[in-house]
Amino acid sequence: MLVSKPIRFTVAIDGPAAAGKGTVAKGLADHFGFSHLDTGLLYRAIAVKALVGEDPITAANELVASDMTSQTLQSPKVARMASKVAVIPQVRAALLAFQENFASQDGGAVLDGRDIGTIICPEAQIKIFITASAEIRAKRRYDELQSKGLETSYDEVLRDVKERDERDMTRKDAPLKPAHDAHILDTSGLSIMASLQKAIDITSTAFVKAMKI
Ligand code: DC
Repeated sequence: MLVSKPIRFTVAIDGPAAAGKGTVAKGLADHFGFSHLDTGLLYRAIAVKALVGEDPITAANELVASDMTSQTLQSPKVARMASKVAVIPQVRAALLAFQENFASQDGGAVLDGRDIGTIICPEAQIKIFITASAEIRAKRRYDELQSKGLETSYDEVLRDVKERDERDMTRKDAPLKPAHDAHILDTSGLSIMASLQKAIDITSTAFVKAMKI
C-alpha cells in the first residue's frame, strides 16, 4: 500500500522593505503549492490600530484574521508605524505562536518577513535573504505607490526606506539580518521573474532532498 506522508517543509524569506520578497514568497508558494504568510501584515494590522490610539500590545494580543485585509495596510504611514510597533518585544512575543503554527502546518509553508530565518523558523529547510540597494528598492516602491494613485515623491520614499532599514536592523529584539545559513539573493539587477526563478531553483534542490524524491 502506498502511504503518502504529510509534507512538512518551511521556506523562510527575509529582507528589507521593497526588496521583492513578497512577490518571490507568493510565487514560490504558488509554484510548490505551499501556504503563504506575509508576516509584515501582522505588524501593519497592529500599526493601523496604534494610529487610532489603541495600545499596540493589546492590539497584538487581540489580533484577528479580518484585521489583515484592510486596504489601508499598504500606505506608507502604516508601514512606518509597523516598523515602530515591531520594536516592542511584547508585540513580537504575541505574534510568535501564530507564526510558528503557520510554519509547521502540513502541506508546506512560505513565510516572509524580517526574522523568519533567525527567530520564527530557525529550522526552516530553506532560508533566503532577499536584498537590493536602497535606491532600487525605493524606485520600485515609488512606482508601486504611483500605480495605486498614492501621492508621494521618490525622495520621500527613499528617506522612508532608509529610515525603516535602520530601525528594523538596529532594534534589540529580532533585528533584520540574514540567518547564518541563508542563501543571499540580491535582486538589484534582476527582474521579478528572474528573482523568482532563482528562488525556485534554490528551493527545488532542497525540496527534492528533503522529500527524498
Ligand atoms: O514587510 P513589510 O514592509 O510589510 O513590514 C512592515 C514592518 O513590519 C517592517 O518595517 C518591520 C515589521 N516586521 C517585522 O519586524 N518582522 C516581520 N517578520 C515582518 C515585518
